[in-house]
This record gives sequence, structure tokens and C-alpha cells, in this order.
Amino acid sequence: MNVAVIGLGPMGQAMAGAYLAGGYDVTVWNRTPAKADDLVARGAKRAGSVEEALTASDLVVLSLIDYDAMYAVLEPAAPALTGRTVANLTSDTPDRAREAARWMAERGAVQITGGVQVPPPMIGTPDAMTYYSGPEVAIEAHRSTLEVLTGIDYLGEDPGLAALYYQIGIDMFWTGLAGYLHGQAVAEANGISAERFLPNAVKTMDFRYFLEFYAPRIAAGHHEGDVDRISMGVASLEHVVHTARASGVDDSLPAALLELFRKGAAAGHGQDSLTSLVDVLRR
Ligand SMILES: NC(=O)c1ccc[n+]([C@@H]2O[C@H](COP(=O)([O-])OP(=O)(O)OC[C@H]3O[C@@H](n4cnc5c(N)ncnc54)[C@H](OP(=O)(O)O)[C@@H]3O)[C@@H](O)[C@H]2O)c1
Repeated sequence: MNVAVIGLGPMGQAMAGAYLAGGYDVTVWNRTPAKADDLVARGAKRAGSVEEALTASDLVVLSLIDYDAMYAVLEPAAPALTGRTVANLTSDTPDRAREAARWMAERGAVQITGGVQVPPPMIGTPDAMTYYSGPEVAIEAHRSTLEVLTGIDYLGEDPGLAALYYQIGIDMFWTGLAGYLHGQAVAEANGISAERFLPNAVKTMDFRYFLEFYAPRIAAGHHEGDVDRISMGVASLEHVVHTARASGVDDSLPAALLELFRKGAAAGHGQDSLTSLVDVLRR
């Protein structure tokens, strides 16, 4: 049981740590070598070069900031890629994932694309999941090693799919979390601490009911304004913007949403549900 991990940011360190805890023979490499010190103290082997890391194991796990970093790391060591399977758990766009899979294939390597859905402390825990796509046969060949990190949500052969699902999730994640931060800034400006508001925030940000209610309607193109209307959303967001301003808080985030809802109304959807914004956005 051996594995190589290239890229030791918080994510790569958590991954290498999970392999060490699982009894694997782990080889690590990072551009800034000091980030390997802790892992080496726990039993990892420090590769003296990228080539050494690539040839230490059949499966190489990559965890870099983006695909530019991947090319910067792998290009000079490309001959050592021949025969390797690279689990590329680096985030980037679907097109770049497809391009990288071709680039690997031209150098005799197989890329498995992965989009990790959890933060570093959750690596190796039972609920952790990663989107995977690329050759199913390669994923099956390395299933047990990949599953040391997270569960496998396999999406299909297209190497861009895992990156696409990941980016869609991250789109929702960043906007949702930014909403939390903005609301909490208004709360803080009014003397309401994050601890005090936490139970309210948890309830407010539990969108499960809404997602399950709206998803079938979006799928059916059914945007009837029977429970909510864009015109109501415009009025509501005006209140949010004014409350933020009156609290001395930057209003650019709710103002951008207000603009979107106004666009929906201007497109003739004032009496339709907010789900009609999906069509407005697609235009
Ligand atoms: N952290 C999370 O919560 C999380 C969750 C899901 C997915 N991810 C994804 O997992 C990946 C790694 O995340 P992370 O948090 O560990 O990121 P990070 O802290 O930004 O780590 C980046 C890694 O990339 C290396 N790197 C950056 N630019 C480089 C270059 N030009 N040449 C060579 N190496 C370069 C860094 O090396 P140095 O140490 O030398 O700078 C480090 O090893 C990212 O794609 C991220 O989107 C992260």
C-alpha cells in the first residue's frame, strides 16, 4: 500500500496524514519543502524531486492551488509520468480538467479528476465525499486507496464532469456563505454577536425545504407565482439594502441581488416565482 502526494497545502497535508494513519507508505513533495516536515516526522518519505515522487507509487495524488501550478510542477518532470495514474484533486474549470486529461494521456499517464467536497479536517471521516470523473477502470483499480480520503461520487467518463459539479457546488457555497457573512456584519453592527445569532443563522440557512420544493418546479419549467413573486422579492431586497445602509454596512452584495430581481421584473416576470430567475440568468 503506497501512495505519493504532491502539494502540501492544508488539503494535501490532511490527505497525506490520512494515508499515514491508514498505514500507507507515503511519499510527499511540495514546492516549499518545509511544509513536509511534520509529515516526515510522522513517517512520510520526502521525495527529493518531483520525478522521485511520481515514480514512488502507481497512484499519485495531486493537491495544488490550480492547474497552472500543476503544469509548473509536472512539466519539467513529464517523462516520469509514463505509466502513472494521477488523481488530480486540484480545483479548476471543466475545460482545463479535460485539457489536462489530454495532456496527461499524451505523456502516458491517466488522469482521474476529483473535486473534493469537504474541508481538510473532514478528510478521512465517514461523511466526506469527492466528485470523481474520468476512466472508471482507473478509479476502480484505485478505489480502496481513494476511499481512504473520502467516499467516491463517480459521475462518468468525461474528465470535466467532476470539475463541473464541483464548480456548481462552489458557486452555491460561496454565494451562500457570503450571504451569511453579510447578514452577520449587519448583526455585529447592531451589537448582535455571532454566537447569539448562530441558532437563527442555522435555521435560516437550512435551505432543504426550499430546494426540494423548487427543484421539481425548475425541472418542469413551472414558475407560477403562487407562493412567491419576483415583485415581492424586489420589495424585500430593498428593505435588506436599506437596513444594511442604515447599519453602516457595505450594501454591494444585497444591491447586486436587488439588481438581479429588478432584471427579472423588467423581463416580465414580476408576477412569477423567483425560480424564473434561472431563465433570466441563462440569457
Ligand atoms: N482547503 C479547502 O477547504 C479545500 C476544500 C475543497 C477543495 N480544495 C481544493 O484543494 C486544492 C488544495 O487546497 P489547499 O487548501 O491545500 O490550497 P493551498 O493552500 O492554496 O495549497 C496550494 C498548494 O499548491 C502549491 N502551489 C501553488 N502555486 C504553485 C506553483 N506555482 N508551483 C508549485 N506549487 C504551487 C502550494 O505550494 P507551496 O506550499 O510551495 O506554496 C501548495 O502545495 C485546491 O485546488 C482547493 O481548491 C480545498
